[in-house]
Amino acid sequence: MECIVINGQNPLRGKISINGAKNAAVAILPVAIAAGDVCIIDNVPQIEDVACMVEAMESMGVICAEMTKHTLYIDARNMTSQTLSERLAQNLRASYYFMGAMLGRFKRAEVPLPGGCDLGARPIDYHLKGFTALGATCTTEHGTVKLHAEKLTGANIYLDCPSVGATINIMMAAVFAEGKTLIENAAKEPHVVDAASFLNKLGAKIHGAGTATIRITGVPALGGGEYTVLPDPIEAGTYMIAAAITAGDVTVENIIPKHLETVSAKLRETGCIIEEGEDWLNVKGIESLRPCEIKTAYYPGFPTDLQPQIAALLSVANGISHVTENVFEQRFRYVGELKRLGAHIKMAGRTAVITGPRLLTGAQVSATDLRAGAALVIAGLNAKGQTVITNVEHLDRGYEDLEGRLRSLGADITRCSQLPSASQ
Ligand code: UD1
Repeated sequence: MECIVINGQNPLRGKISINGAKNAAVAILPVAIAAGDVCIIDNVPQIEDVACMVEAMESMGVICAEMTKHTLYIDARNMTSQTLSERLAQNLRASYYFMGAMLGRFKRAEVPLPGGCDLGARPIDYHLKGFTALGATCTTEHGTVKLHAEKLTGANIYLDCPSVGATINIMMAAVFAEGKTLIENAAKEPHVVDAASFLNKLGAKIHGAGTATIRITGVPALGGGEYTVLPDPIEAGTYMIAAAITAGDVTVENIIPKHLETVSAKLRETGCIIEEGEDWLNVKGIESLRPCEIKTAYYPGFPTDLQPQIAALLSVANGISHVTENVFEQRFRYVGELKRLGAHIKMAGRTAVITGPRLLTGAQVSATDLRAGAALVIAGLNAKGQTVITNVEHLDRGYEDLEGRLRSLGADITRCSQLPSASQ
């Protein structure tokens, strides 16, 4: 059983260049299917979710080749199938993007319901509602969504909540719909803008991405092109919080500071000193952190994907903090594991009441999902003694070489192929 072993209490110091964004990359790759021509994608992170997307694309006859460590060549001209296997679809959440990409270009797709982190019910009804409004027939049989359309026609689509996945998926299909499509209450996340920018580069006509109203004028086909994936605000935020909890001094480079405004604001509230440049942020932690209130929200609010990590930080802050989760029903599965490390957390509905400061002490804990795993790493970096984290495959889905990169900042962290004997 692979695990991560951390000997805590080493302050992180130094610089780290942030990789391409996971959630943007997994949307940009299916755009290359919609393109139907050769695409070259740069700044692709080397993470499991990307490897799964590539495997899924290759299984349907797309040629994918690694040109350099972070550059992918994708040729979807001669795709042989528009049917994805259940195993490949369930590897990750973003497999739902094959629906919009293939429905748009081929007017048909068969994609099993997606997998991904278990954060409670994660329906895709808005995606299907959007495809139906564009004229597609959507049926779900034996867990597979079957989409078909003679032709797609532009429509007015209102999303009941600003779902990132539904916005990008509907956008990909609507690019090929005759006439005009209006997506209202659209998600405004940076990766929605990234997917729209790439689609536009390939010949699409999308206006308003990044606002609540997206207007799309259909085109008959797209061409090939090159694109660079935006830097990952969640990876950057994770290293910023890791710097804060170790009272370290870390500069995250190759980022877009605007995408991290709420994270910087909250870290400042805890007393951390944040300096900002054009494409970098420096975080200096302090010994006695102040508590703060966190309410997750859609962009530009505090990202739900950094909620577990900041909860770990607040467990060592001096006072009572409240962390309220407003996006996913069950994003507190990590709480029991953080408590093993010494955190004092009580749940009150969707709010975690965190009382600090607590002296965290190393223990064996299990990563219940990707960002929960990141929270445990952050807590382990602060904890006295040895922390052993199991189920680390969750971390590999979204962080490239997490241990190596933390080691380069001074952390004592290693990956072991089996549990250290004291933990067995
Ligand atoms: C994406 C991200 C995930 C992030 C989340 C919110 C990817 C691959 N994943 O997930 O990392 O945590 O955005 O920023 O980009 N909903 C419905 N019906 C739908 C779609 C969504 O009820 O058809 C609900 C969800 O249950 C959730 C909320 O809307 O409560 C937001 O979901 P959404 O933005 O779609 O998140 P994901 O695309 O799953």
